[in-house]
Amino acid sequence: MANTVLIGAQWGDEGKGKIIDVLTEETDWVVRYQGGNNAGHTVEIGSEKYVLHLIPSGMMHDGKKNVIGNGMVIDPVALVKELQGLEARGCNAAGRFFISDRAHMVLPFHKLLDECRESKPTEGEKIGTTKRGIGPTYGDKAARVGLRMGDLLDPLFPQLLKKRVEESNRVLAALGAPQVDGEKLLVEYSAAAKVLAPYITDVLPLLYGATQRKEKILFEGAQGTLLDIDFGTYPFVTSSSTTAGGACTGTGVPPHRIDRVIGVVKAYATRVGEGPFTTELKDEMGERIRKAGNEYGATTGRPRRCGWFDAVVAHYAKMINGIDYWAMTKLDVLDDVETIRICVAYECDGKRYESVPANVRILERCKPVYEDVPGWRAPTKNATKFADLPTLAQSYVRKLAKITGVPVGILSVGPKRASTMRFDQKPGELITG
Ligand code: GDP
Ligand code: IMO
Ligand code: MG
Repeated sequence: MANTVLIGAQWGDEGKGKIIDVLTEETDWVVRYQGGNNAGHTVEIGSEKYVLHLIPSGMMHDGKKNVIGNGMVIDPVALVKELQGLEARGCNAAGRFFISDRAHMVLPFHKLLDECRESKPTEGEKIGTTKRGIGPTYGDKAARVGLRMGDLLDPLFPQLLKKRVEESNRVLAALGAPQVDGEKLLVEYSAAAKVLAPYITDVLPLLYGATQRKEKILFEGAQGTLLDIDFGTYPFVTSSSTTAGGACTGTGVPPHRIDRVIGVVKAYATRVGEGPFTTELKDEMGERIRKAGNEYGATTGRPRRCGWFDAVVAHYAKMINGIDYWAMTKLDVLDDVETIRICVAYECDGKRYESVPANVRILERCKPVYEDVPGWRAPTKNATKFADLPTLAQSYVRKLAKITGVPVGILSVGPKRASTMRFDQKPGELITG
């Protein structure tokens, strides 16, 4: 496998964790490059289920190297908990887990600020964040006042932290939010530093060396394209670059070292949190999809909003990320649906949109233009090759490939590794429209 960036092409939770797990066998390194523990990536191996938030989804494969890139934001206490949880389940990180000393650190005041902003009573201003402090941490990074993972190991850390706590407490006081106890914080973060010290390093030379030796790197995107800070449904977005370009700025690996981009899409759509969702189903069908797809947040447990496949969004994601092929997931969730709808365009005030408008107030008023296709009403979960699928399921997949202009290279019909069809291993096998 070449150096590959894998991104979510919708609003997150597309099944990136599962696809990363499948692809890890063919790679040497798995590298996260943005986001923090707002992510929840589920990997099912045999009867074991893992939900990863900060640690790359390749960690359960012995011998594979895993990196937290500079573009991520890390809550050290949460990372220690996650690491120790994996170690308790027999996963050994020693010598194959690396944390960039340039990755920014989430501090308790970021979480308090996140919560405080989310508790605003004004209708329409809530983002529905995961309250993990992601936005305020990236805010401090851009404001050039953040602390980084390397600072945890600096003898000056107590002074650096004290300064941040004093300023932050003034902001929190002005907002009527609780204060941070600087001494308690220092004790907690110093304990985390002891555990994480062996892993914190300058990962840039490591990744440079890997590319020089032609080792293979798999970049694991978190969230999804429509949550990107620039291209998402702003302001209802996360605070990082979730799109393929983020893999370069979030790791220091240059663009010409990226060989391939895989976009992960569900065969329908979901969104957690607030913000426009043109194909959302607020009816019994939405409830049916939520139940069949077990659509509850892997991080917060919130019910995910469900809707039909939005080809406008998928095409938009193709343009931004340069997607070579889709990894399409959760086809099985539509097995019982009589008629499936595909959104091919939007309409607003008599105007037709074939790309996602930047203005969220326009997007909120957009109505979907649907094409209907018949459902297959038969199980897909046992299919091991495309021809095993019911004919109407094959037609649906081909239609999505055609409408989006992107072939399908991986097709997933269940949460486990075995429920995965590959069309990307031999030339000429991709599923096209
Ligand atoms: P991620 O954030 O993109 O990694 O996705 P999540 O793990 O948050 O959510 C995807 C959910 O769908 C997880 O519970 C997966 O186990 C599950 N999943 C992944 N692929 C499939 C599939 O093809 N079919 C079904 N039924 N579930 C799947
Ligand atoms: P994975 O990697 C789905 C959403 C939140 C909220 C918005 C901003 O599992 O796909 P934040 O806490 O990031 O400031 O919240 O982004 N969000 C996600 N939705 N999957 C995720 O990650 C998400 N990470 C953040 O619900 O709407
Ligand atoms: Mg998730």
